Amino acid sequence: MRMYDIIAKKRDGLALLKEEIEFFISGYTSGEIPDYQASALAMAIFLKGMTDEETVCLTNAMANSGDSLDLSQFGALSVDKHSTGGVGDKTTLIVAPIVAALGGRLAKMSGRGLGHTGGTVDKLESISGYKTTLDREEFLSQVENIGIAVIGQSGSLAPADKKLYALRDVTATVNSIPLITSSIMSKKIAAGSHNIVLDVKMGSGAFMKTLEDAEILAENMVKIGKGCKRNVCALITDMDTPLGTHIGNALEVKEAVRVLRGEQKGDLYEVCIALSSAMASLVLGVSVKEAEAKVIETIESGAAFSKMRQWIKAQGGDVSEIDDTEKLPKTDYFYEVKSAESGFVTKMDAEKIGVASVILGAGRENKEDKIDFGAGIVLSKKTGDKVNKGDTLCTLYSNNKESFKSAEEKFLSAISIGSNAPEKKPLVYKIIK
Ligand code: URA
Repeated sequence: MRMYDIIAKKRDGLALLKEEIEFFISGYTSGEIPDYQASALAMAIFLKGMTDEETVCLTNAMANSGDSLDLSQFGALSVDKHSTGGVGDKTTLIVAPIVAALGGRLAKMSGRGLGHTGGTVDKLESISGYKTTLDREEFLSQVENIGIAVIGQSGSLAPADKKLYALRDVTATVNSIPLITSSIMSKKIAAGSHNIVLDVKMGSGAFMKTLEDAEILAENMVKIGKGCKRNVCALITDMDTPLGTHIGNALEVKEAVRVLRGEQKGDLYEVCIALSSAMASLVLGVSVKEAEAKVIETIESGAAFSKMRQWIKAQGGDVSEIDDTEKLPKTDYFYEVKSAESGFVTKMDAEKIGVASVILGAGRENKEDKIDFGAGIVLSKKTGDKVNKGDTLCTLYSNNKESFKSAEEKFLSAISIGSNAPEKKPLVYKIIK
């Protein structure tokens, strides 16, 4: 078999065979196939697409390119969630304990934040002592004993995707449905869960800016996940406005605790109920409606918060910081951003607000950047709210006073204030099964 012929076949719009896809993935992972040939194939796939059968083969080949986790000991109870990324998205911190309290088994590997979106692992590291690496035995026994463990994603999981994603990033081939689908799903398949719920974000702070694009990606990921023999469903949720009110690592832990304790309703609560219900429905084999009643009960009875305490403690975290979130990292300085006009908030650009939080130190521009765990933004107003001139729109937190000016400018450029209240948009646009 020759890589040249595989590239030419895809260039001419023909479907590749399983053996050809496996030849490419194993050769590219081992370094025998050079970047220039992999780039040519990525571009041919970008331009000519892939059939579902080809995408399933590519997903499986990448999932099998490195380590994978065997969760068969948990049978149909293992469940994972993947979010395509957003601003203020702390849903894992909330849905994981809810679903574990209902008997689900969450052996979760999460990422770090980069650019305008945050990462679960950074949020968890803002709790003193929390260990984001566990060896395989510790990881699985924690899942067995308390139903949940969340660690950083191992570099040896789907290494073919890691290499190919980096190559796509510099060859203008990221935005291809079969390539995005196989990239995301290969990591989920290698991570081993039987049930997978995908949270496909849509809007200004998301990868997919329109409902149409989000639907195409969500439908494709569900189809390919099923083709890889997993139980999959997807929710398309709003990311036009940041989720919840807190953006930043310790700040997001604080807000997650509030939701788990039943102290905060609103958009974040609603999206978490929808995601947890979808996950619980797959795990328990009941309807989403039935699952929803059980999910709400875990919050109201305190079972979900108690599960979060158990989880943080088992992973070495200081539970007193969860019991009293004032003990979480804080910054030396804060600054209130005021409104220069009266009216209604008609738009909040989630991506720009995410960038403002990075300026304050809450995220990374480059992989090596250090995070200021206490830094971030607390929103006082959200889309649809009425504002008067002089009202506080948000509070900025940072240990670097110098960052306030440019973070304020970025934040204000994200907000539109108009004389009429905007039309209310759904939080969950669609559930795809
Ligand atoms: N996220 C991924 O992991 N892969 C993609 O291709 C796009 C988003």
